[in-house]
Amino acid sequence: MKVLIIYGTVEGQTRKIARFMENILQEDGHQVAIANAVEEPPSPDNFDVTLIGSSIHINKYNTLIKNYVEEHIDILNKKPSAFFSVSMAVASSIKEEHEEIEKVALEFIEETSWKTKTIWHIAGALRYTQYNYFKKLIMRSIAEKEGGAVDTTKDHEYTDWSKVKEQVLSFINSLK
Ligand SMILES: Cc1cc2nc3c(=O)[nH]c(=O)nc-3n(C[C@H](O)[C@H](O)[C@H](O)COP(=O)(O)O)c2cc1C
Repeated sequence: MKVLIIYGTVEGQTRKIARFMENILQEDGHQVAIANAVEEPPSPDNFDVTLIGSSIHINKYNTLIKNYVEEHIDILNKKPSAFFSVSMAVASSIKEEHEEIEKVALEFIEETSWKTKTIWHIAGALRYTQYNYFKKLIMRSIAEKEGGAVDTTKDHEYTDWSKVKEQVLSFINSLK
């Protein structure tokens, strides 16, 4: 299958996840194109399936990803597609945090009129080494509340790679 992966990232974790998807799909025999939303990504027209991912920052997805979905909504709704949402709430021990990101994702789907039924919530990373002083303080206090790592001298990754692999392969193979 010809697969297109488009992603929006701030600190790089969504890019890492998108590249991981690219690798496992290539290993499974698919033809894959991947693009960052900031690099004039190709249209989904020439692909059998499109996977679109964005991280959540302050309860919002990447604006360029939203623009991409809106711009290509007709073709996205005619062919198979999936949305992967990257956030820290997935790794939280607090139930309300999970409900909040599910709401953020459903609002995004509603606002863009995207009809995809496939939404994956994927845990991201705390990239303390990339945050400025204030961001580090804020993220540390959120992590403390949610049971995350508070050692700000290094980064902490929460992505469940085997789950990502299983979700992507079972989705793509269900379309054959
Ligand atoms: C300033 C900031 C705000 C964030 N806001 C949220 C949020 O509202 N909800 C959430 O679950 N995660 C939030 N996160 C966590 C990110 O979604 C997580 O770090 C993710 O891995 C970032 O992916 P990226 O590197 O692809 O941008 C936030 C992170 C930062 C740095």
